[in-house]
Amino acid sequence: MSFAVRIDGQEGHEPPRPGQCLRTYLRERGCTGVKKGCDTGDCGACTVHVDGLAVHSCLYPAHRADGRTVTTAGGLAGDGGRPHPVQEAFARARAYQCGYCTPGFVMTAAALSPEQLADLSQSLKGNLCRCTGYRPIGEAVRAAHTRHGDSPAPPPVPADPAAPSVVTGAARFCLDHPEPAGLLHVALVHSPHRHARVLDIDTAAARAVPGVRAVLTHRDAPRTRFSTALHENTDDDPADTRVLDDVVRHAGQRVAAVVADSPATAARASRLVRVTYRVLPAVTDPEQALRPDAVRVHELGNVAGEFHGTVGDTGRGLAEADIVHEDTFRTQRVQHTAMECHASRAWAEPDGRLHLRCATQAPHLVRRRLCEVFGLDPGRLRATAGRLGGSFGRGQDVQTEDIALLAALRTGSAVQLENTRTEELTATTTRHPFHVRVTLGARRDGTLTAIKLRIVCDTGAYGNHGPSVLQVACTEAFAHYRCPNVTVDGYCVRTHNVPAGAFRGYGAGQLTFAVESALDELAHRLRLDPLTIRERAYLRPGEQAAFPGTAGRHPVMDTGLGRCLETLGRARARRLRTRPEHSGPRRLIGEGLAVATLYTVPADGHIAQAAVTLRADGHYELTTAVPEFGSGTATVLRRIAAQALRTAPDRVHLTGADTELLDHHSGGFGSTGIVLTGQAVAQACRALARQRDDPTPASGRPTAGSGRTSADTACRGEPPLPPLPSAHTGGHPAGTRLRAVATVSADDAVPCLAFSAQWFRVEVAPDTGLVRILDSVHVADAGTVMDAAQCRGQIEGAVVQGVGTALREELPTDAEGRITTTGLRTYLVPHFGEVPPTEVHLLRPRDQDEPAMPKPMSELPFNSVAAALANAVRDAAGVRFTTLPLRPDAVWAALGTGDT
Ligand code: FES
Repeated sequence: MSFAVRIDGQEGHEPPRPGQCLRTYLRERGCTGVKKGCDTGDCGACTVHVDGLAVHSCLYPAHRADGRTVTTAGGLAGDGGRPHPVQEAFARARAYQCGYCTPGFVMTAAALSPEQLADLSQSLKGNLCRCTGYRPIGEAVRAAHTRHGDSPAPPPVPADPAAPSVVTGAARFCLDHPEPAGLLHVALVHSPHRHARVLDIDTAAARAVPGVRAVLTHRDAPRTRFSTALHENTDDDPADTRVLDDVVRHAGQRVAAVVADSPATAARASRLVRVTYRVLPAVTDPEQALRPDAVRVHELGNVAGEFHGTVGDTGRGLAEADIVHEDTFRTQRVQHTAMECHASRAWAEPDGRLHLRCATQAPHLVRRRLCEVFGLDPGRLRATAGRLGGSFGRGQDVQTEDIALLAALRTGSAVQLENTRTEELTATTTRHPFHVRVTLGARRDGTLTAIKLRIVCDTGAYGNHGPSVLQVACTEAFAHYRCPNVTVDGYCVRTHNVPAGAFRGYGAGQLTFAVESALDELAHRLRLDPLTIRERAYLRPGEQAAFPGTAGRHPVMDTGLGRCLETLGRARARRLRTRPEHSGPRRLIGEGLAVATLYTVPADGHIAQAAVTLRADGHYELTTAVPEFGSGTATVLRRIAAQALRTAPDRVHLTGADTELLDHHSGGFGSTGIVLTGQAVAQACRALARQRDDPTPASGRPTAGSGRTSADTACRGEPPLPPLPSAHTGGHPAGTRLRAVATVSADDAVPCLAFSAQWFRVEVAPDTGLVRILDSVHVADAGTVMDAAQCRGQIEGAVVQGVGTALREELPTDAEGRITTTGLRTYLVPHFGEVPPTEVHLLRPRDQDEPAMPKPMSELPFNSVAAALANAVRDAAGVRFTTLPLRPDAVWAALGTGDT
């Protein structure tokens, strides 16, 4: 039977496999602009044109493309290779961060009719973006179509060298690299029980399926216990996890891995694996798991970490208070929902070494951890990461890497494991749910006399990241308030729930929701303006933040928070003078605000290394091992390098994240990607500039050197220097190759405090419980902003993710502890039409004593959103919500009963 399809201008005749969808057919033909984000037509990452019509190619049977013309983002460019106007507009407006959703958005936008253009809320509903907050996407789409009418284009934002590849779909994410020969695929078997012992696994039927190469169980896996969490300091996380275990501790835990010629064969065979379990008693409530008689989740015990700290005398502080407010707050289990699912690929290189390509934020730590688990010499394993399709912390755990490596070692073949969206939602790490008991004491004027916190965080079945998340939560959320008496007692508890892990905010968001909500309630009871109580309470410049239980690490406040509150107050007053555009006569209108602080201290022992090489062509090659995952690290590091080298950013080229290229780097997460790695980059580049500018000819001394420069802070406060003339190489003849390396560690880091403040005006519909955002202002103290477009995008994206967490995202479980949300259709990531623009203010560094350096904005803007929204709902409806999310059914019920 003949088959013909025209793909991006090329005629093809190879028929698809039976049942194959168009997305897979196109990706197998190298169309990297066709992304996989789900299999259900919910995310739009796979959007292509079929005869000019935009379709979700994951739902489109490939055989129906017979006789048709298919265009992907890679083939959208016009004659002469000039990008399509929509692609140009996306690049000019920086309408992307990680860029994983971008080709799909481009294809949808390029096919819009004038009628569809007039209603982008509906027209772009089928494409999800987890990073940008949608504002720049809308601007790009409108600009692209306006330009057809000869209206002037908006001014471009500073160029990102990755833009052309992102908007055309050529940027390479984890699985976009050419497949190694003979690639096999893994499908996982997951436990349906939350606690059980595996008595037997019958793999015969699965192994009998043609194309199946192996079925791996705990008998094939190393017995070594490890933590999936990736930290430089291995003491941070308990070693309590096995690659495949004979005890399951949560529903969804991996029990077996089927390796086969194709994903479909592996999936079909995985359903034939028969596992016999002895079901055991389970505990899923963290408060119950704390009891001495509770079912033990793990031999190591149920408490994975504790934190206790005291400043002053809280009992006395409460006795001296004119008013005491106490409440308990609960946050829910949510998922990162990056548009790219976790994936890894392992294969042998021609020299016999193993290559592991994975969606990680820390390639060196993945290599180290897996070499320990599998007993490999580090020299035998190379780990690389491409661009990550969003992270939000998900890349700081071993998620699929261990199984891919196990399968490659056991089969001797190249192997790939790519999670399905259902696996992402039901069996990978989540945010830690928290219970927080807050007790605040205050005088009538709002002066805080006591803060008392009891925190229980549910780390799920394993302790990865749990103790560190608890520590961040126990210190940062209130560090900016003056209070002489503080007591914090925190417990990180194992339960038979799906494990939590690193997630944007790292515990601070949960605590900020609790503390900022309680403070707001205190303000209501004292009849104080919520801004006033915060203005009176925040620490002034020069005062030391009180971090109970963290001796010697008490940062000194600067002017950031005060200026955030000033700016927020002005914007709020201006906004409140306007009438809100509410959607109906019976709507309840209210406003609320909250603040958040981030202490930019890296994890203990964190190491950041950077190398820079002056190439023969006068350009520079910068190596950092920090993959780009949408936080803008790549552009900021290039600019730091360019400044130190006194050259233009487009002369600095960033290499990929690859363990071959640097001795060691602990990865890019938390505040380390920009702050610590930025210091290493600045030092390496300054060292290279000194070599370059040395008038001594290169002959007679090494032309390629490696210097371990000591950490210093000279880069802080330096004004930008003028760029050198092009191809400036000092006294060195053309062709000389100079290299400098710098390493800084957490001990060398200059920590600082970053601040943000968020304000919302909302309407609440009493008849439906729906909360709608009418107005939104975000103020951020981001230090020296190296890339305003990227920074603003980070903040807007964080606010939208915070809105999703506050209003509706959650992962409910059934009676057996199984997560019942299995797809994006029911997980409800905010989409284009639901998110109003946020007015973003970036404070300029003002005082000379403030560090002239960028402060990270990946996490901080998320942290205050849920509290600010809950405070606005309290103002509107008179009901204090203490449990997230504020779903319409919960709000509706509470408005009727007053029960939150
Ligand atoms: Fe849209 Fe990352 S830029 S998902």
